[in-house]
Amino acid sequence: MEKGTLALAITGGSDNWSPARWKARFGEVCADRRVVLLPDDACAPDDVAYAAVWKPRHGVLAALPALRVIFNLGAGVDALVADPTLPDLPVVRVADADLTGRMTEYVVLHVLAHHRRLFALRADQQRHLWQPREQWAAGALGVGIMGLGVLGADAAQVLRRLGFQVAGWSAHPKSIEGVACFAGREQLSAFLRRTNILVCLLPLTPQTRHILDRALFAQLDRTSPLGAPVLINAGRGGLQVERDILACLDDGTLGGATLDVFETEPLPPDSPLWSHPGLVVTPHNAADTDPDAIAAYVAAQIARFEAGEPLQNVVDPARGY
Ligand code: NAP
Ligand code: GLV
Repeated sequence: MEKGTLALAITGGSDNWSPARWKARFGEVCADRRVVLLPDDACAPDDVAYAAVWKPRHGVLAALPALRVIFNLGAGVDALVADPTLPDLPVVRVADADLTGRMTEYVVLHVLAHHRRLFALRADQQRHLWQPREQWAAGALGVGIMGLGVLGADAAQVLRRLGFQVAGWSAHPKSIEGVACFAGREQLSAFLRRTNILVCLLPLTPQTRHILDRALFAQLDRTSPLGAPVLINAGRGGLQVERDILACLDDGTLGGATLDVFETEPLPPDSPLWSHPGLVVTPHNAADTDPDAIAAYVAAQIARFEAGEPLQNVVDPARGY
């Protein structure tokens, strides 16, 4: 019997993420089935059993009546679930050791850069200033991670190993050795009050949109040697109120920030975020997914599904992540 077609609907991304490259990769790992690229390739909608997507145009998936599973080619599904016509089918997202390792590198890099005052030292260097700045032990700082999922839990453990006082905040109670775990809105303030470097690895949902605002920053601890607290957001841009971040950097509520994600991406050239001296901007590449690994992951999930085994990393539609 003919195996169900795999349709690809992919928008945006670097050269490595070009739709043509994805088609070539899936052609290799799904050699026994037809792989089509939407909207370019002709295909009978009734033949499409699987879709592998990144930010697909709204309505594309609803037009595939025989679709059985949707594979999101990244960890965050906010762009996908924003489609009001999204069919009621299992959505599998990426949870992958390679991606997790890359995000942990990013988080540790930026926590250490703020902790070790790298940006001030770099500015001193540019002015030829030999100016040793006070340094303190990692244990003097509380690092608080919003989102203790696949990514947050891994970063928490590595930061703990480095000696930081690590806390985490999630929707449901958790227990991670050496990490002070807080859950739910009722424990958010207690979590913030012990945090000097706030790392956000939340998914974007109606509950988390714009959670990173002035009222939240004002609750962070200011009594550590770092002084004003620091924000690192690698979750999604919709989690942050960008005008509040700028105003809080200006008035000292925040001492610095690293942002990988923005309300509008690419960040517009005239955005004031580019040039604020307290801000490090990276272009949404904290943790790129390795396309070869993900194509193999999707092929393995399809094989599981067709063998009657449960799919892995399925999104809960009620939670939206
Ligand atoms: P995940 O495993 O689903 O974890 C999400 C965490 O957020 C969970 O701990 C969850 O709590 C918590 N959470 C969700 N809603 C919450 C709420 N209302 N209040 C408190 N906690 C809440 O996701 P992940 O794989 O770690 O990825 C997290 C996000 O990172 C993705 O959604 C994506 O947006 C972002 N990301 C960014 C990049 C990048 O390059 N910048 C790369 C990959 C991913 P429970 O555990 O209690 O459910
Ligand atoms: C990247 O942002 C992802 O969600 O994987």
